[in-house]
Amino acid sequence: MKEKLIRGYKKSFNEQPQLLYFSPGRVNIIGEHIDYNGGKVLPMGISLGIYGAVTFKKGTKCRLVSEGFAHEKIFEFDLNEFSESNDFTKYVKGVIYVLRKYKNAKIDCGFDLYMTTTLPPASGLSSSAALELLISHILNDKFNLGLSNLDCVLMSQAAEREYAHVNCGIMDQFAIGMSEENKVILLDCATINYEYFDFKLDGATLVIINTCKPRALADSKYNERRAECESVLEVLKAKYGKETLCEYTMDELNSIKDSIADNLYRRAKHAITEELRVEAATKAMASGNLKELGLLLNASHKSLKEDYEVTGLHLDVIASELQKSNIVLGARMTGAGFGGCAICLVNSTNKDEIDKLMNSVNDIYYTKTGIHFKYYYCESSDKTGILK
Ligand code: GLA
Repeated sequence: MKEKLIRGYKKSFNEQPQLLYFSPGRVNIIGEHIDYNGGKVLPMGISLGIYGAVTFKKGTKCRLVSEGFAHEKIFEFDLNEFSESNDFTKYVKGVIYVLRKYKNAKIDCGFDLYMTTTLPPASGLSSSAALELLISHILNDKFNLGLSNLDCVLMSQAAEREYAHVNCGIMDQFAIGMSEENKVILLDCATINYEYFDFKLDGATLVIINTCKPRALADSKYNERRAECESVLEVLKAKYGKETLCEYTMDELNSIKDSIADNLYRRAKHAITEELRVEAATKAMASGNLKELGLLLNASHKSLKEDYEVTGLHLDVIASELQKSNIVLGARMTGAGFGGCAICLVNSTNKDEIDKLMNSVNDIYYTKTGIHFKYYYCESSDKTGILK
């Protein structure tokens, strides 16, 4: 990959790059759509990621080439007078914007940046957070901003919210900026306390399945779900006073059921029950009870489908067809949904057997959706940093 990255950079900018970086994508094992409800989540950094080669320049011009996002076209902007854009450069500009706003960063020399990726863009594996973390680290190192890994996480999240206008939680940026090889992170999003667990699947394999369905309208639907949760929280809070949705019990939610719309009830029900599934899944993983973990994955998908309504045909076909197989322990969507990716815990390490399963489900998927999915074996990765 290093050679490919350097070659790509040289082809675009006719010189040798100064610095090379890597930023992983993420999957979330369980705990979906609850990071912004004060819940716990169980994500990990994955070996699919974004590779960046950069050279800082005199002057204030920035030139960006992204093989993954925009097929080798050169995008340009000036550090001192950039405006909002609707392409991948918004994540780069967003990080510059928040570093100046919150860290008083003096970012006064431009750069040439070439990126290549193994992380499929807009597929629900957090390519935008991976890019934000990549830029945060590059700028932190170059301009000696003195930011910790956690600061880079928080700045990246701020860029996504304030500049890319997706009111996201902390999970993606945290998973990418704090991940460790062979570990899953249990993150309490209310307190930002976290623990690492071994990513150990004795005799089993985690597979990532990419629906390859473009995630149209995903951002606005995401913001809509968030607002729905906030409106239920307001009612609960007026009665019980607790600060986040995931702190409530089903009994408490049921006590206000008649005063809220049915869809709002179901959104909150998902959040409250998903939090319980994360706790159970963490125990199941720690004790090596993969059968139990699989059942929790299935239950999570069902809740996201029926109560949270963020799955859709493509993810539902994949999850339900995989769940029928007797070598599958569990399957669910991962990330924001509305297309994007699913994960599947297979009770086998035999790649031929897993390939056979995936191919047969892909045939059914094609007849039901008219497209094929892609799949990848999930491997963990270390956090964003200089490419080793
Ligand atoms: C997106 C957001 C995260 C999280 C997930 C759903 O990936 O960026 O903050 O809310 O959706 O769990």
